[in-house]
Amino acid sequence: MDAHDVVAELPCDRWSGPFGADDCRRAMAALEAGHVVSLPHLPFALAPEEIGFLTDRALDETRKNISFDPATGQCHGSGFEGERLAALTAMLERFGGEAEALVRGLLPGYAATLERARTSFRPAEIAGRTSTPRHDDKRLHVDAFPTRPMRGRRILRLFTNIAPDGVARQWRVGEPFADFAAQFLPRLRPMPPGQAWAMALLGLTRGRRSRYDHLMLGLHDAGKLDAAYQERAPRVALAFPPGVTWMCFTDAVLHAAMSGRCALEQTFHLPVEAMAEPARSPLRVLERLAGRALV
Ligand code: SIN
Ligand code: FE
Repeated sequence: MDAHDVVAELPCDRWSGPFGADDCRRAMAALEAGHVVSLPHLPFALAPEEIGFLTDRALDETRKNISFDPATGQCHGSGFEGERLAALTAMLERFGGEAEALVRGLLPGYAATLERARTSFRPAEIAGRTSTPRHDDKRLHVDAFPTRPMRGRRILRLFTNIAPDGVARQWRVGEPFADFAAQFLPRLRPMPPGQAWAMALLGLTRGRRSRYDHLMLGLHDAGKLDAAYQERAPRVALAFPPGVTWMCFTDAVLHAAMSGRCALEQTFHLPVEAMAEPARSPLRVLERLAGRALV
């Protein structure tokens, strides 16, 4: 594996369209093939007063990310208050808007059903950060979240490196999802009867976990906890310098973030049916491997 197998570079240098039909086609094909779409000429411009936010002092001491919820307009995880919090919130909201315009313009086939979820700002350095293996994003994993059942919907994430000092964000990208899933699926236990219902009732999940969510969480954990896999699995190292924007379906692209600081990230959710090739979604791949419907 080398970088050419996992990254498609596009020349776009604006956040809103119109974009060329060829760029649109290439973006969708690459994302659905499980590749990273990289836009090396697309920086996110900061106002002079926003440069001061590029420090981990923007964080509440207990957190590693600051998140903005477009549904409520609220920011969480920052130690700032008053005017500084309002200005930081405005920066995240502006980034979310630009990211949404880009994704809608570049991926018109997704626009009708695309849902803009949270925006995050990740000021802290990743290298040297300690966490439990399950929470350690320096290990190869696909994204799946315990409190947020997706019921098959895709997770599309867009990142921009805004580090002020030239420091690249270093990622690793692993093997195709179907290969990874075929190795780990046989090791997973079935969902205990009543668990999804009880968790939803207790407010531990937002909506009810499906079998799909159970398996995706199982793959996330089993992959991260397997030290031999982490050591030996195929991977490609990718570096995203400041000024670069990139995106991928993080529910299917095995990824690990090894080092870097000061990234912005926007999450989108997308129904499987919006894809040109729904058969390539993790939902359909797992259904084929499991031989049954999972939602
Ligand atoms: C992750 O999704 O695992 C982290 C990606 C990053 O912050 O670069
Ligand atoms: Fe992740």
